Amino acid sequence: MLNDNFTYAFSSDAQNEIYDFIKALHQYDKIEDAKTLESDDCHTFLREVEEIRNELENGKRIVIVRPFVDLHNKYTIQEQRTISWLLGNALGEPLVQNEAGDKVICVFDRDRTNSMTKGARYHQTREGGTIHTDNVNVPFHWEYLVLSCISPAIAGGENILVNALNVYKVLKEKHPDVLSILEKNFLWEQRGVADANYEAPILTYNKKGEPMFRHLRPYMESAHNKTNNPLTDEQVYAIDTLDSILEHSDNQYRHTFSAGEILLTYDSQVLHGRTCFSDAMNAVTIFEYKKDHNKPLKRTMDRLWAKKRSKLCLV
Ligand SMILES: [Fe+2]
Repeated sequence: MLNDNFTYAFSSDAQNEIYDFIKALHQYDKIEDAKTLESDDCHTFLREVEEIRNELENGKRIVIVRPFVDLHNKYTIQEQRTISWLLGNALGEPLVQNEAGDKVICVFDRDRTNSMTKGARYHQTREGGTIHTDNVNVPFHWEYLVLSCISPAIAGGENILVNALNVYKVLKEKHPDVLSILEKNFLWEQRGVADANYEAPILTYNKKGEPMFRHLRPYMESAHNKTNNPLTDEQVYAIDTLDSILEHSDNQYRHTFSAGEILLTYDSQVLHGRTCFSDAMNAVTIFEYKKDHNKPLKRTMDRLWAKKRSKLCLV
């Protein structure tokens, strides 16, 4: 059921199906090695995933799934992570997100001194700002972003969500000159995925004529600088205007995620970011936490990028 503020709670029938499915899984170390759902598994859950898909494609474009409640025995962290893996797979085909071939990426601060300006990827830093879409590293379009909260930060780390359809409306009404610049090609880095650049506009349109955005300023600036092709004054003006609209509180919805909550967005129509955050001094990574539960876990989110399957290739 979809509630106010984008939240969605799976029915108890759907949650019980997932409980039975997860408890019957064989041993697996890596989350993406866990068996995924077939079309004859967990019917209620899969039917409710289709409600979510409809909301992502035709509704608010943002869904925040409430934590799955296990009445028998609290889910382990690995089982919680498996729920978002199953959900992502039900929505689409998970894509490779780095050169190592990983399809589930852990978002956490690797080092307090890490920065995108020094070449780090956003998900490896504690930096805030830079409202963006995730579909920037690969030239082709994919649909669904899945961001699942394993552990919140001790301070900050508020997620910022911006509906791109509203942003487009503002641009069209007040800044039509900017629109026409954003519709032209920019250069993009495939940072972390391949040592290559590609060209694409920030703003394109789907078959329904709706706007679709591709935006992450540091990756774009870096691609233009590296290739001795600096952004023109006109391009900088257009990006500055876009960023200023994205940063305006009127256009933002903010949510601080709790452990077990899962954010789903239709990536090209929802720009997102976060405020900066800080972990406890003695906080450990999820890999260290597996061996030692005595120290707090860093702010950690699992991230999946899912490409919609054609109708002939359903799960
Ligand atoms: Fe992101």
